[in-house]
Amino acid sequence: MTYDVVVIGAGAAGLMCALTAGYAGRRVLVVDHANKAGKKILMSGGGRCNFTNLASSPANFYSDNPAFCISALKRYRPEHFVELVDRHGVEYVEKAPGQLFCADSAKEILRVLLTECDWAGVEIRLKTSIEAVERAGEGMRLTTSAGRIDAGAVVVASGGLSIPTMGASGFGYDLARQFGLAVTETRAALVPFTLTSQWKARAEALAGVSVEVAVSCRGRRYREPMLFTHRGLSGPAMLQISSVWQPGDTLSIDLLPGIDALEALVSARRETPRRRLSTWLGERLPKRLAQALVEWHGDDGVLAEYSNDRLAAWAERLGDWRVKPSGTEGWRTAEVTMGGIDTRSISSKHFAVTGLPQLRFIGEVLDVTGELGGHNFQWAWASGVACGMAL
Ligand code: FDA
Repeated sequence: MTYDVVVIGAGAAGLMCALTAGYAGRRVLVVDHANKAGKKILMSGGGRCNFTNLASSPANFYSDNPAFCISALKRYRPEHFVELVDRHGVEYVEKAPGQLFCADSAKEILRVLLTECDWAGVEIRLKTSIEAVERAGEGMRLTTSAGRIDAGAVVVASGGLSIPTMGASGFGYDLARQFGLAVTETRAALVPFTLTSQWKARAEALAGVSVEVAVSCRGRRYREPMLFTHRGLSGPAMLQISSVWQPGDTLSIDLLPGIDALEALVSARRETPRRRLSTWLGERLPKRLAQALVEWHGDDGVLAEYSNDRLAAWAERLGDWRVKPSGTEGWRTAEVTMGGIDTRSISSKHFAVTGLPQLRFIGEVLDVTGELGGHNFQWAWASGVACGMAL
């Protein structure tokens, strides 16, 4: 079998690249070892796929080579993907500012991609494992469970390591190393935190409680909801900060973001001296959390009884709650992989390996990781299109 292009990975980036190259007149085959295309698309955004973010910009991405993502993101913008889904009549909602989700189901996004692949003449072969990828003359040769395949170019879109049960593998990193490329350290990101001992028991007792916080670590700060879980802490604020958190780090959590807690407590003591602290807290925080806080610290009373020092201690607990996670839930629940193939040996225009234009890498397998909120799919679309147009 001979193709102009073989794309490894029928996920977001691979399908986008394949359909783009197909429309450009290339004979394209997509191979995937999974039994279904786009499994991560289907499970994304709680089954509704946060398929882009209207405000997506290079500032929303982490990479050792931050300038790498600029070119592709500039050329294929969120509006372009919105145009595509509009053409297919997909209904969507803006759940949070800029974050577009399917109104109905993530299946709609996969349907758009598979329909476009079909119209562009792309072949998709599932349940096919790749045993070897080598150079062969001017092109590339793949040895697969379905036999030998020759290709003018191979595009690797095999994604990151998160959710191994969905087909994630380290294939792309191994292949990159085989061709002499460096791979930066990989770790689970956009992932909930786990707690141990006393803190785990406290989180467990509050499981299901959500509160808007501002969390800080390593110079980054995110103001978003935090969720207590049976294992520890989750919700958008925790997923976001997990991308910079390193084992041993302590998180600083502001439970009253935007409020000067000391000033607010002092004026509450002046204006409502008979009010109990727990009542005051319960007007600003979920009631279960307010009650838990006074129990943890064994300190509740009418505000008039509180000295300046006692109020200052509470202001610190509320504005700078220090939590040291024991770890994260890891690859089992992480949304993305931080790190990946070092982009310094990859063209930011067409995603080819320097000195080996027959081999290209796109999507999450590269060391480009988006923040939460639709940025990771925008990277998959943008890198897929940039590569597909240049094949
Ligand atoms: P992707 O992982 O989509 O595809 C890789 C493909 O390669 C898979 O089909 C896999 O089977 C295949 N493959 C792997 N190894 C192979 C091998 N050895 N041989 C053959 N095939 C192989 N992002 C976002 O922007 N908005 C969101 O709402 C969410 N939500 C979300 C929820 C959850 C639970 C997860 C796990 C992730 C998200 N994400 C997200 C992240 C997003 O899903 C992710 O960044 C993109 O799917 C990455 O696209 P890729 O095409 O690069 O990899």
